[in-house]
Parts: sequence; structure tokens; C-alpha cells
Amino acid sequence: MATERWSSRLGFLLATVGAAVGLGNIWRFSAVVGTNGGGAYLVPYLLAAFVCAVPLLVLELSVGRALRTDVVSAFASVKRRYAAFGWLVVAGVLLVLSYYLVLTGWVLGFAVSWTAGSGTAFAAFTSGWQPVAYFVLATALTGGIVSLGVRGGIERMATVVMPVVFFVLVALAVYAVTLSGWNEAASFLFTPDLSVLGDPALWSAAFGQVFFSLSVGQGIMLTYGSYVDEGTDLRRSALLITVADIAAAVVAGLVIFPIVFSFGLQPTLGTELAFTTLPTAFAAMPFGRVVAVAFFGLLFFAALSSAVSLLEVGVAAATNSTRLDRRTATVALTAGVFLLGVPSALSYSPLDFAVAGTPVLDLVDESVGTYALPVSAILVAAVFAWRADLPAVRADLGPFLALVKYLTPTLLVLVTAAKALGVARPAWRLLVA
Ligand code: PHE
Ligand code: NA
Repeated sequence: MATERWSSRLGFLLATVGAAVGLGNIWRFSAVVGTNGGGAYLVPYLLAAFVCAVPLLVLELSVGRALRTDVVSAFASVKRRYAAFGWLVVAGVLLVLSYYLVLTGWVLGFAVSWTAGSGTAFAAFTSGWQPVAYFVLATALTGGIVSLGVRGGIERMATVVMPVVFFVLVALAVYAVTLSGWNEAASFLFTPDLSVLGDPALWSAAFGQVFFSLSVGQGIMLTYGSYVDEGTDLRRSALLITVADIAAAVVAGLVIFPIVFSFGLQPTLGTELAFTTLPTAFAAMPFGRVVAVAFFGLLFFAALSSAVSLLEVGVAAATNSTRLDRRTATVALTAGVFLLGVPSALSYSPLDFAVAGTPVLDLVDESVGTYALPVSAILVAAVFAWRADLPAVRADLGPFLALVKYLTPTLLVLVTAAKALGVARPAWRLLVA
């Protein structure tokens, strides 16, 4: 049973928005939008968010509050054997965390090097052991915050960090409006191309991104929901979290793409956009150093508050299922996540850890985004919407009940299957050719 509670509604909202807004909004959103041709992607993205993700967000928060427990015990309360599904979800979350902390470390390293001097190039950064050192630091910081508890650690951190994130983001957007590439960026982002809506790859990219970005279907919102008081309106909260998350992504796009276009850079570099493309511009622009420190600093704060939420899923499950106290469980899981992340950390280091030419970190990100997140979301949606017959949950969901019961799982299965077929198609062509 969760006995801890958020100290206020604002604390709850800051913590959940902190969980949602992260590298996904700034690094991953711009990478995915850039490689998928800009605004084309906006229509499936918004549909996925409001039709699929919001109902599931309400479901998770509500199940957490109704059962007052972690994701493993919540699954087990539906049927004992379902505890295994809960552990599967926890394993997925810890896998995400393991490479998320590597990226968090990069961002921290870039923030430090721009503060100390004129930054570092990504190639130079990854040619030494700095990525590994900053991965250790990011991991230790995340564990330290979680070990301090729900109020004293997670909520307190979010209360300090999230206002800074939003303030700096808006300040950077105001600066970006003054850049010559602003118009081009706005039309790149906001011109929807309806002709590409028949492309299943675009849909699966959009769904993957929404579930990643909103932290939904991963037991995170269920865990944070178990600390919410009875009076909080969860439908309103879910809408607010979603709007804040989308706003953060769009505003980040309005910071990143004006810079990209003003300096004649390519928007299509994907993962490397934030780490190789942008620093080129920072080095060339007026006040570039200030902009770089603000950008990487805000990215680090956003990443840290998300990393903390991922770890809390595991810590809540471990403290409820074993006799470990919070501190011991946090130390044990942090050590485990560290070991799990070592191959990802080493994939951008002098060792260049790769499988068939692809860095391990990219492989993990790709497979997590494509399979682990949707499968986990399908499990959460299916088991809790169909099996948990809790009157409180039905009341919280209201009109969203039908969506989360029928539409969300159907669309998730379709999109995941389409993606799997898309991956299988080239191999199939080879066979029949
Ligand atoms: N939602 C957070 C982000 O956008 C972190 C996260 C990623 C959470 C993946 C769950 C799964 O960065
Ligand atoms: Na996000």
C-alpha cells in the first residue's frame, strides 16, 4: 500500500508534468519530426494524443489512486498470475531508464562544457570517457533524488526544476522569433501534408512518439497516481498534462528549427540533431554560449525529472513486493540500471559498442520505441480497462471508458502490427525475389 502522498495538487501536477516533459519533447520530437518531413506528422500525432493517450492516462492515474499501489501489485490484484505482466512492464521501464540516463549524461556534459568554455563537438565528447563519467553522475543523481522519497525527493525536485524548464523554453522561443529562419521553421512544423496519411510508418512513428512523450502505458502514471488525494479531478489533470507536454514539444520545435534553418543546417539528422547540428549553430550565433547553456541546462532538468519517474516505478514495485526499504531498493535498482546501461554508454565511447554497425544505444531506443512501449501500453490498457471492475475507476473515466476499452487497444495493436510488418517486409521481399 502506498502511504505517501503529494503535498498539494500543484505538487502532483508538477511531478507528473515533470515525468512527461523530457528528452522526448526536445531531443526525440525534433528528431522524429525532422526525419518524417515536418508538419505531415502533426495530424496523426494529435489524434494519437487525444484519442488514445489521454484516456489511457486517466485510466492509469485512476487505477493507481483506487488501488493505492505500484504497477506489479496492481496487475496482481486483477489476477495473481498477472504479477508477471507487472514485472514485464517494470523491466521495460528500467530498460528505457538505462539508455535514457546515458542521454541525460550527454546533456549534462554538454551543459557543463558550454558553461566552462565554448562547448565541445559530439565527436570529441564521445572520443573520450566523458560519456561514461556523466552517465555515472546522472545515474547517481537520479538515485539520490528517488531515495529521498515522494515529497522530499521527487516533488521537491519537480517544484524547483519545472518552472525553470518552462521559463527557459519560452525565453529561448522568444529569441528564436528574432532569427531569420523563423518563418521557414514555422511552415516546416505547421504545414500538414494530408497525402502522407496513408503511410503506416508515419502513424507508427507518431504513436510511438506520443506514448514515449506522455510516459503513458508504462506504469509511471499509475505509480504517481497512487500518491494523489481523492479530491483531484483526474480527467482535467490528464488533459493538462497532455497539453503541457505537447506545448513543450512544439515550443522546443520552435526553438530548434529556426536555429537549424537560420544557419542552413539539415533538419533530418535524427538522433544527432541536438548534439551535432545545433552546437554548430551555437558556435556561430550571437550570444551562442548563453543560448547553449540555457538549452542544455533546460534539457538536463527536463531529463532528470523524467528519469526520476522511471526509477520510481521500479522502487515502488520493489518496496511493495519485498521487505526492502526505499533506500535499499533504490540503491539496488540504481546499480542494476547502471549495469544495464553500460553497453549503451559504451556505444558512444572509444569502444564504439555496436551490433552490425548500429550503436547499441540506437538499437535499444529503436526497439523500446517500437515494441516495449506499445506492448506495455497494450497490457496496461487491456488488463485494467477490461478486468479491473472498480467503480471509482469507471467514475473517473466517464466518457473515456469506451475509448480506453475498445479504441485505444485496437489502434495500438494495429499500429504495432503495421510496424512489425514494415520491418518484416524487406526481409520478405528478399525471400520472394
Ligand atoms: N516521457 C519522458 C520523455 O518524454 C520520459 C519517458 C520516456 C518516459 C519513455 C517513459 C518512456 O522524455
Ligand atoms: Na515527453
